[in-house]
Formats: sequence, structure tokens, C-alpha cells
Amino acid sequence: MSSLSTQVGIIGAGPAGLFLSRKLHLLGIDNVVLEHKSRSYVENRLRAGLLEQNTTDMMAELGVDHNLKLKGLAHHGVMLSFNGDRVHIPFEELTGGRRITIYGQEYVVRDFIAKLVDEEQRDIRFEASALEIRNIHAAKPSIVFIEHEEEKELMCDFVVACDGYHGIGRQALQKDSYRTHEIEYPYSWLGILAETPPSSDELIYAFHEEGFALLSYRSPSLSRLYIQVDNDDHIDHWSDDRIWQALEKRLGSAGWKLNTGPIIQKSITPMRSFMIDKMQEGRLFIAGDAAHIVPPTGGKGLNLAVADIRILSDAFERFYDNGDTALLEGYSNEALKRIWRAQHFSNFMTRQFHRQFESGSFEYQLQKSQFDYIKNSVAMRTTIAENYVGLKHID
Ligand code: APR
Ligand code: PHB
Repeated sequence: MSSLSTQVGIIGAGPAGLFLSRKLHLLGIDNVVLEHKSRSYVENRLRAGLLEQNTTDMMAELGVDHNLKLKGLAHHGVMLSFNGDRVHIPFEELTGGRRITIYGQEYVVRDFIAKLVDEEQRDIRFEASALEIRNIHAAKPSIVFIEHEEEKELMCDFVVACDGYHGIGRQALQKDSYRTHEIEYPYSWLGILAETPPSSDELIYAFHEEGFALLSYRSPSLSRLYIQVDNDDHIDHWSDDRIWQALEKRLGSAGWKLNTGPIIQKSITPMRSFMIDKMQEGRLFIAGDAAHIVPPTGGKGLNLAVADIRILSDAFERFYDNGDTALLEGYSNEALKRIWRAQHFSNFMTRQFHRQFESGSFEYQLQKSQFDYIKNSVAMRTTIAENYVGLKHID
């Protein structure tokens, strides 16, 4: 088996792996990224597109914010709706000027790959699948991977598994050494991308008796919209007309009109909360979706992955600077504080705006009363705003 070596071996070229690779490179720490899928597959994977200020600040620090500055859309607030009754949450006013940027995750990934691969010819290997992580308790762990049908071994000082929910990294942790938490929600999101100008310049999260709906966008001419469907529903049951009718009804309020247009992409995604409560063992570290999934209602998935990378890269910087392992050992506990906060907020937004209970039931009345409280209390609106834009520090 042929062998190569680096300081940090990274599995996965999603946002977590790409941010980490770039940051380590700037710190002078050698790294190799192994990605199972092709470059075009990774660049075209459509996901949420809501970037916290912490994330856009890190893109600026990493020098990968050229297109973000040109095409990212500043997002100053959200509209929340309950059966057509709306309340506005102005972020900057409630959070001392912090803001959110709308910029699709697929664009973030493309910008990083262009920088790392096209500009800098870095060692990012697409269609290279990690098969096994070896010797995580020894000084030189390794990743066995397959590339062009040949098995190879990447010798490292550290392995970082940024390999998403279905990756092999999490499986390499000792089974009884951590707890897993998981909720599967009894609904999914049907998401569409449509060639039509957004019908609102702010996102709208709507509860409706027929189910949740969300209005978002990707550009001044491209809308991204979602509706709640059953977990066993199928995309073939949803003609374009039926989707537009559902959106119109669920997002509607007096005097407001939904723009429609050609639907160029549609898919159904289940909703789940998932996490493990330990993200390190020996010289193996787990980051991003490999360690935690949040339902997309809070817009936190990508931002949490980036927050993990910020903590982990500071820890590598310290280690390679003076051999101090304290930050590396503290990585898991430090990252988990923000993950729990995001889990709580994402769960709150999900339960608050999805239809699960019969109208008039106890649980329904709680949802309604909570919405009325959001309308009536600046404290509650501030709570939502500061969680939505992302807390700067969590102690
Ligand atoms: N070998 C190599 N690559 C692998 C392997 C493997 N055995 N297993 C998985 N991968 C790759 C996947 O192909 C994928 O490209 O790891 C990558 C993981 O990327 P993401 O799933 O995008 O995860 P992450 O980088 O943590 O990004 C988190 O993605 O799912 C969204 O909402 C989430 O926005 C958040 C972000
Ligand atoms: C999106 O634009 O895709 C999006 C925005 C906000 C969310 C989820 C998805 O909460």
C-alpha cells in the first residue's frame, strides 16, 4: 500500500473540512483533504444559506470573502407569522448591530474550492474515500483511503473527521464513551428553488393550520421556499401548482402577494436533531455534521460547523506553536456549549412554527400563546434575535 504523510489529515470537503484546511494552511500547518464525492457534486449540493456574522467574519479572515462581499445579501430581520398574523424581528436594533448574510452554502463551498484548488493547487483529493482510521491513540494515526481503485495510507499527527452525518469518523470513537441524543420530527421540508424575485426582502417563517412554510431567497431573481410535508410524502404528489397554492395560503397575510415562477429544483428533507456529547478521542477529532445535526428552522447547521473549526484551529495553532495540548483536550467541551445553545434554539423554532397538534388542543394553544408573547414582549423578540444572529461568545 502506498503511503503519504501530512500534519493534519482531514476527511470531507464540506464547509467544515474546507474552512479547517484553509485556516491550517494560513497557520503554516500542512494538511490533506480526502473527499469521497466529485468536485462538481460537492459544489452543487443545495443546502441552507444563512451565514451568521461569526461565519462571515471568519470568511474575511481566511481571505475567501471576495464573492460574498459582492453577492451576499444583508439580512436585517425576519418576519414571523402565525395564521397570517405577523411580527417583525429587527436584528440590528435588538442585537447592537449584529447581522446575518444570505449566501447559499453551495456558493461558500465553490469559493473555498476555487481558492484552495485553482489558486493554490493544494492537496484536496476528490473521489478519494476514507475507509478506516487507524491508531488514534498512537503518536501517528493514519487514514486508509481508496483513490483510483488503489488503497493508500495517509500518515498524520492528527485526524479530523469533517465527514458529515454518514461518515466513518464518529464510528471510530469508542462506543460506550459518549452519549447520543436524537429526535426525529414527525414532518419533513419540501424545498424549492424558483426563478422569481423574492416576494419579501426579509425571510418569513410561518405557522399555518395546514403546516409550516418558509420564504427565503438566493438572489434578487431567485427564491428559495419550503413547506412542511409528512415524512412519508413523495415529491411526485406535489405538482408545481399545488406547491404554489400551499405557499400562498401558508405565507399569506392581508395585502401581500406571493411571486411565482418556474421551479428549477425540488426535494424533500427529513427534520432531525442529533448530537454526540464527545467530539474527540486520542488524536481523532470530529467536527460539523459528523457530530451534530440541527433542524434547519434556526439556520444554524453551517454556522455550527464553522464554530467547531474556529475552536479546533485555535487549538492546533497552540499545539504547533509550543506543544501545549490544553486547548486540544478542551475542544469538545468548548464546542458543545454552542452546540447545545443551537440545539435549543433550533428545537424551539421548529416546535413553534410547525403544525403538529389539532387546532384548539392544549399544545396548539401553547404555540399560539407563545407567538402572542413574541408579539407583546421586546424581551422575547430580543431572545430570538440574539440566538438567530448567533451569540458572539458562549461561556
Ligand atoms: N471519505 C471521504 N469523504 C467523506 C467520507 C469518507 N468516508 N464520508 C463522507 N465524506 C464527505 C461527504 O461526501 C461530504 O462532502 O464528507 C463531506 C461532509 O460534508 P457536509 O455533509 O457538508 O458536512 P460539514 O462539512 O460538517 O458541513 C455542515 O452541511 O449539512 C450541512 O446543515 C449542514 O450546513 C451544514 C453543513
Ligand atoms: C435557506 O435560505 O435555505 C434557509 C434560510 C433559513 C433557514 C433555513 C434555510 O432557517
